[in-house]
Amino acid sequence: MQVISSECDDVAIVTGAGSGIGRAVAEALAASGTAVALVDLPGDGLDAVAGHLRRDGARVTTVAAGVTDEGAIEDAVTATEAAFGPLTLAVNAAGIADAAPAESLELERFTRLFDVNVTGVFVSCRAEALAMLRHGSGSIVNVASISGIVAPILFLLSSSASYCTATDIVVDGGYTAL
Ligand SMILES: NC(=O)c1ccc[n+]([C@@H]2O[C@H](COP(=O)([O-])OP(=O)(O)OC[C@H]3O[C@@H](n4cnc5c(N)ncnc54)[C@H](O)[C@@H]3O)[C@@H](O)[C@H]2O)c1
Repeated sequence: MQVISSECDDVAIVTGAGSGIGRAVAEALAASGTAVALVDLPGDGLDAVAGHLRRDGARVTTVAAGVTDEGAIEDAVTATEAAFGPLTLAVNAAGIADAAPAESLELERFTRLFDVNVTGVFVSCRAEALAMLRHGSGSIVNVASISGIVAPILFLLSSSASYCTATDIVVDGGYTAL
């Protein structure tokens, strides 16, 4: 990765930045010169991404936190603004997948997926939006899935009952509330 601009004033938070879509988004933002706070569960992934971006000259910080921990996410926003300035962009890509048909899905697994994929998006959006509202602007992108659009068909038929349902809430809720 090469940082292509040092003129960018944007400040971003990316959840799920230790892997997959979140990592790719964080890398693209960092390359554009955006200062990026990388949020993910504690582990090697987060440090590896941060190390790689810093070596390339990007402005990044890391927050090892779960998105269901509202205090930790609020602290992450505060720390990001203290380090880089007003938050202008947030990409909520933290999420888990769990494939199981409804009839054999234990409540614990259903609840866990909801905690991360729905409650985690709400907790993140609320903390990010409060900061953006304080200074009058900002954009939030929530990463969901095509499964949220086809969920009414797939819910009982597919092998991903909890995933389809949670994603549907983020997709539909994203238009109206989140
Ligand atoms: N990869 C795909 O093809 C695809 C397609 C559609 C939707 N999605 C959705 O996009 C999101 C990201 O997918 P991905 O492929 O990048 O997955 P991934 O597993 O590669 O990355 C998800 C990241 O979220 C982090 N994470 C998980 N639980 C967390 C928590 N409680 N708090 C903070 N971070 C947490 C993980 O540590 C991981 O780094 C998921 O919700 C996934 O369902 C993925």
